[in-house]
Amino acid sequence: MEIRPERGPGEMRELRFVLLVLLVSLPCFPASDRQGDALYDMKQKLNATGGQLSDWNQNQVNPCTWNSVICDNNNNVVQVTLAARGFTGVLSPRIGELQYLSVLSLAGNRITGNIPEQFGNLSSLTSLDLEDNLLVGEIPASLGNLSKLNLLILSQNSFNGPIPDSIASISSLTDIRLAYNNLSGQIPGSLFQVARYNFSGNHLNCGPNFPHLCTSSVAYQSGSHSSKIGLILGTVGGVIGLLIVGALFLVCNARRKSHLREVFVDVAGSMPL
Ligand SMILES: *[C@@H]1O[C@H](CO)[C@@H](O)[C@H](O)[C@H]1NC(C)=O
Ligand SMILES: *[C@@H]1O[C@H](CO)[C@@H](O)[C@H](O)[C@H]1NC(C)=O
Ligand SMILES: *[C@@H]1O[C@H](CO)[C@@H](O)[C@H](O)[C@H]1NC(C)=O
Ligand SMILES: *[C@@H]1O[C@H](CO)[C@@H](O)[C@H](O)[C@H]1NC(C)=O
Ligand SMILES: *[C@@H]1O[C@H](CO)[C@@H](O)[C@H](O)[C@H]1NC(C)=O
Repeated sequence: MEIRPERGPGEMRELRFVLLVLLVSLPCFPASDRQGDALYDMKQKLNATGGQLSDWNQNQVNPCTWNSVICDNNNNVVQVTLAARGFTGVLSPRIGELQYLSVLSLAGNRITGNIPEQFGNLSSLTSLDLEDNLLVGEIPASLGNLSKLNLLILSQNSFNGPIPDSIASISSLTDIRLAYNNLSGQIPGSLFQVARYNFSGNHLNCGPNFPHLCTSSVAYQSGSHSSKIGLILGTVGGVIGLLIVGALFLVCNARRKSHLREVFVDVAGSMPL
């Protein structure tokens, strides 16, 4: 004998609702899962030992609670900063799957091997800092696809070969530091238009342009000049910030007062006289 419980219309509606909620929330999870998997692979390829990144746990739903990982409001990984942690391994090609990543720093470790060409897939990247590692090989031409990149720091590694022309075509670059590698060939002319550059300590040929400013830009050398500009910008920004906070405070205060008045009027109005 089988007893099949009949589903009432109310139950069906509930079921449909649950399905709808599942469908709506579904797209959020695989994305962050994939990002967590990519980060976990990065941890393993960096040869992280027991104490390093111990809270980077593969079984977690998303990596946004992990140390040194910052996510946006949609649980997408936007920042990973792991400078001077003593990593000795290599860079995982899967880092290229972090399509929302804006800032990546792994400076001051002992990472070996190449920059994987998949790094060219990091389409949201604005800052890449791999300074002071043991990286080798050519700078991949795919980095020229990082169209939002402002800051590129690859100094103090052992990169060889030429600076790819594709990198010179990144119009958003404001600071490029390739000093103390084993780079050779001619520096692409348009890189001298980047506000800050440092190519010293390589075997690079400066070409016919800007021979006396070849190794590093003036702005780069006079740190005091740019820090003065920074100070001015900082001060202006601070004043504007204060004005905004002040205005918000006034608006909120006014709102609260009028709200209080409304409540008061309401209560008075509801009293039978
Ligand atoms: C990473 O760790 C493994 C096992 O401990 C070791 O064999 C390998 O040489 C290490 N790789 C690097 C680049 O340190
Ligand atoms: C990432 O880049 C590699 C090589 O640069 C390419 O072959 C691959 O299709 C890209 N993957 C994705 C998911 O875009
Ligand atoms: C840059 O990306 C395009 C697609 O967006 C791809 O066709 C091209 O191969 C990439 N360039 C490099 C150097 O990887
Ligand atoms: C630097 O590159 C040149 C070839 O351009 C090579 O002969 C030399 O061995 C490299 N030096 C180091 C320290 O890797
Ligand atoms: C260029 O970079 C090297 C290595 O990071 C640094 O020692 C040097 O001071 C820089 N040059 C200038 C002019 O800033």
